[in-house]
Amino acid sequence: MPDHEYAFEMATSGIRFGSGATREVGADLVDLGARHVLVFTDPTVRPLPPVATVLQSLEDAGVTCDVFDQVRVEPSDTSIQRAIQFAAATPHDAIVAVGGGSTIDTAKAANLYCCWPADFLDYVNPPIGKGKPVPGPVKPLIAIPTTAGTGSETTGVAIFDYQPLHSKTGIAHRRLKPTLGIVDPENTRMLPPAVAASSGLDVLSHAIESFTAIPYTERPRPARPTLRPAYQGSNPISDIWSMEALRLTARYIRRAVADPSDDEARAKMMLAAAYAGVGFGNAGVHLPHGMSYPVSGLVRGYRAPGYSADHPLVPHGVSVILNAPAVFRFTAGTSPERHLMAAEAMGADTGRANTDDAGRILSAQIIQLMHDLHMPNGLRALGYTDADIPALVEGTLPQHRVTKLSPRPAGPDELARLFEEAMVSW
Ligand SMILES: NC(=O)c1ccc[n+]([C@@H]2O[C@H](COP(=O)([O-])OP(=O)(O)OC[C@H]3O[C@@H](n4cnc5c(N)ncnc54)[C@H](O)[C@@H]3O)[C@@H](O)[C@H]2O)c1
Repeated sequence: MPDHEYAFEMATSGIRFGSGATREVGADLVDLGARHVLVFTDPTVRPLPPVATVLQSLEDAGVTCDVFDQVRVEPSDTSIQRAIQFAAATPHDAIVAVGGGSTIDTAKAANLYCCWPADFLDYVNPPIGKGKPVPGPVKPLIAIPTTAGTGSETTGVAIFDYQPLHSKTGIAHRRLKPTLGIVDPENTRMLPPAVAASSGLDVLSHAIESFTAIPYTERPRPARPTLRPAYQGSNPISDIWSMEALRLTARYIRRAVADPSDDEARAKMMLAAAYAGVGFGNAGVHLPHGMSYPVSGLVRGYRAPGYSADHPLVPHGVSVILNAPAVFRFTAGTSPERHLMAAEAMGADTGRANTDDAGRILSAQIIQLMHDLHMPNGLRALGYTDADIPALVEGTLPQHRVTKLSPRPAGPDELARLFEEAMVSW
């Protein structure tokens, strides 16, 4: 039995927050010594103001660029490899990613394989890939999020759908962290309400999962400090960021979804996404995310409102939040006080609550929010039936990087029961 972990480490990108701060990116690149850069975005965001602002800022600063606007919403191994080919064939000295998590993650992976070429599965999380550490520094990457969701601007994580297994996986290493995240509330002004809702619920789940993950002291101690994973388990510093992200999200998400011109709500949701990124980027997430990867990967015909993709997809935040109520009922017994604190941060009156009720109280808060934000009513509403449960379980089992952070171990039987409960939410 290896010794237990005794230390944790916080790592995050530099973050700049401010309305209009996107205009500064050209000057940042000059200061980084960049003369020619790649701009990554997706086809929907390409004609929108955030990209125009970036391109104008580059021009004003005398920085030239090539634009890759073929990022796939919910990237796949093949779409990432197309982005790598583009980056490898286009000389550049820095990358700017303008878009949601799909764009930022694609840019991180392209940057990695361009700087350190390898077989595609070499850096991918085990057991799907070999999980090799990133060998050295990558080129500067400036991430400019246009959703208030993933927190990818703060993390060393890139997620994609691994199509041969119909499940998501990713690459996780501190060296993938963007050099700088420019968090500019102006960039979510045109976000469709359905995207604001699902990406905002991703923030909510990042916050609760990282707050309820196993304590970092329950992981084995690594042989060398560099082998300490990015996702280390809950820890006192992540707790602060995750809890504040949860409070902000609970307070502002309904307003941000209902009225995209509500500047205060949009700004608070941008902050919440970045706060949650700092929290979960170091503590990790657990079962709602682990279970979401096959829910996304096995999609058949579902087309999500607000998502302009040329393929069926289950938005990431939807695939996560549909599992969350069942999971937190399952995990509450391991740390009822943490689950009650999360429920309280969401507005529940927990003054007289019995710790035995912690899971029910927290899941009721989440379900009410899902209902108010017009989420699909469970996995069944996406077209899944009980016959899909074995495949959903099979797609979750390899997600060790996150499932092992669950405070309560979940094997095939437990996961099958959780998916069964997630079929209908209310
Ligand atoms: N790296 C990480 O730490 C991390 C964490 C969580 C999720 N993810 C991954 O991120 C991806 C999801 O990212 P996301 O939720 O940010 O959404 P996204 O990037 O997939 O974009 C969602 C949709 O919104 C559109 N869009 C984005 N910004 C817009 C804007 N300002 N105005 C109008 N339309 C806009 C996009 O074109 C797309 O149709 C998933 O692949 C998920 O697995 C990564």
